[in-house]
Amino acid sequence: MEKPKLYMTRLIPERGLKKIRERFEVEIWPEEAPPPKEVIVEKVRGKDALVSLLTDKIDAEVMDASPNLRIIAQYAVGFDNIDLKAATERGIYVTNTPGVLTETVADFAFALMLAAARRVVEADRYVREGKWKVGWHPTMMLGYDVYERTLGIVGLGRIGSAVARRAKGFNMKVIYYDVRRRPELERELGVEYRPLEELLKDSDFVSLHVPLTPETRHMIGERELRMMKKTAVLVNTARGPVVDEKALYRALKEGWIAAAALDVFEKEPTPVDNPLLELSNVVVAPHIASASFETRSRMAEMVAENLIAFLEGRTPPNLVNKEVVEVRKPGFS
Ligand code: GLV
Ligand code: GLV
Repeated sequence: MEKPKLYMTRLIPERGLKKIRERFEVEIWPEEAPPPKEVIVEKVRGKDALVSLLTDKIDAEVMDASPNLRIIAQYAVGFDNIDLKAATERGIYVTNTPGVLTETVADFAFALMLAAARRVVEADRYVREGKWKVGWHPTMMLGYDVYERTLGIVGLGRIGSAVARRAKGFNMKVIYYDVRRRPELERELGVEYRPLEELLKDSDFVSLHVPLTPETRHMIGERELRMMKKTAVLVNTARGPVVDEKALYRALKEGWIAAAALDVFEKEPTPVDNPLLELSNVVVAPHIASASFETRSRMAEMVAENLIAFLEGRTPPNLVNKEVVEVRKPGFS
């Protein structure tokens, strides 16, 4: 049998790529920056499978470019860049890479939280810029304690739960908000449920772990930021548009909250003239929460596993649009 044809919008780590090449005829976009939409549409023509990243908009136009397209294997846990409904209607399987990046993202959420609270990045700049003139000073670079404070987790999924477990090691009180209550997790993790408004009022740290959906877009806006403590720190490793950046700028500038740490932005890359970058009480990173050597390789292996399961006529282990099995059976024949 001829190998199915696959388009990949970026080079992914070798461990997964190797397995994919054994079973598929692979064409890869060679640059680090995402391919323009027209290129994706053109390259998908005649392909049976697509490997996409969260930076690629995969809509009906892309799907309709190839009548043979049967599976979109996303190299990410989030898939808000893919029109799922359009995929399901066309009998196209969509898979993601959940689970493997959970602990890595939770580590980074914690790193950002500590960095913002204890002004790690600002302190580093201070030393390098030659501003450290007095050896030790009782009020130099004071920050906020993390231990024993209250952490509010918005979205108690896999990543939110992993953050909660870390917080326990810091003796933090952990409260959470989620669209559904999770009694088993409440017991297992020792966390308490709060409606969002109460969580915002009670938390010293608020960490976001919800997917981007129409309901979560701008979930944290002016109204919510004004409910938070003046000493609170907001951490976002989820998706930029969950937070209204304009409102966040005012909140940080006018002191409604103390600090923020952001790995994600409304637009990525965020422009260098984003006013948030002028503020010293903001710690930023370029969407790298899952960027550990091991995790990125394991994500590539999962993409391979999903593709190969489909190729062998099995339901891929990380199928996102489960209803699609009613529309079409897995496999390329
Ligand atoms: C990263 O942001 C992901 O969704 O995997
Ligand atoms: C990620 O794996 C999540 O569902 O939180």
